[in-house]
Amino acid sequence: MRKGLLLTTASVALASSLTACGGSSSSSSDSGSDAKPKIGVILPDSKSSARWETADRKYLSEAFKAAGVEYDIQNAQGDKQEFQTIADQMITSGVNVLVIVNLDSGTGKAVLDKAKAQGVATIDYDRLTLGGSAQYYVSFDNTAVGKLQGEGLSKCLSDMKAKKPIIATLNGSPTDNNATLFAEGYNGVLDPKYKSGDYVKGPDQSVPDWDNAQAGTIFEQMLTSERQIGGVLAANDGLGNAAIAVLRKQNRNGEVPVTGQDATVQGLQNILAGDQCMTVYKAVKKEADATAKLAISLAKGEKGETNATVEDPEGKRKVPSVLETPVAIYQDNVKDVVDDGFVTKEELCTGEYAALCTKAGIK
Ligand code: BGC
Repeated sequence: MRKGLLLTTASVALASSLTACGGSSSSSSDSGSDAKPKIGVILPDSKSSARWETADRKYLSEAFKAAGVEYDIQNAQGDKQEFQTIADQMITSGVNVLVIVNLDSGTGKAVLDKAKAQGVATIDYDRLTLGGSAQYYVSFDNTAVGKLQGEGLSKCLSDMKAKKPIIATLNGSPTDNNATLFAEGYNGVLDPKYKSGDYVKGPDQSVPDWDNAQAGTIFEQMLTSERQIGGVLAANDGLGNAAIAVLRKQNRNGEVPVTGQDATVQGLQNILAGDQCMTVYKAVKKEADATAKLAISLAKGEKGETNATVEDPEGKRKVPSVLETPVAIYQDNVKDVVDDGFVTKEELCTGEYAALCTKAGIK
């Protein structure tokens, strides 16, 4: 249950220094400045994207360890009931900050409200909980992510000199506010092209829970109803790979540009192979570092540092936020992701990809 919980000697040192600077507070029941940070994090699943286990867990653990604070990171594995249970257990175990990546806004809100009622500080991590009560939000500029995807698809289509391509769209989960923001971003680029007649709008569907298997079925149906699909806006690498797998069966991979997001090993390999047009690299290390820093401030009863304000359209409130900047990745800059340490050459350049890595300048 408490796997991943860590209490290092450094945290003892931190705790005593906190007591020292919180000297004026009168009683130990004061949860303010003399509170010892204990941070709980709930990740959503490990199937909708590789990132949650391979990147977020890793970078968050590293950041908490480096700060010498006690923490507990758990994954709800797509189960909303389990999500609640984990939250209850974390609150009971005495976390003073709870960081969540919601599975949907409704269940996320229930968890946030409960934590708040117990005096636990809360942070929405990556996904904003609509109508929720998180004190802070840490993410990327998600509309910018979508914009890069729309521009990426356009760039690949023009490189291929595509004529009036029919575009299929695989949106993320309808219950994920990020999916809405990504769509705002890419539709902002693509809608004018439909209006001008440069592109033709084809099938457009959301993929429940970002489920990759369902994405494959949906895309197969799209191709059956519209054989001439000439470009695919897929909202992340998992959805993109589902479309690519279907295109491969029809020997059309590489002819139809497909987008993605997350710079997963699979997505980057698809790019190296020429089957995927681009992905969006989100330096999760920055997101995790910012979250750890904020969580530690909150645990100490301090105000967090932010660089943005995000509007929650449902709760009609402004949420103080930290937003990081996404980067578009094409074949010629896959190496940047490796250089940044997000994926290793060893995991990327296996088997048939070794030669492609060399060609792409990955050393
Ligand atoms: C995240 C993406 C991820 C998707 C599926 C979104 O909320 O921002 O990075 O690919 O969820 O897990």
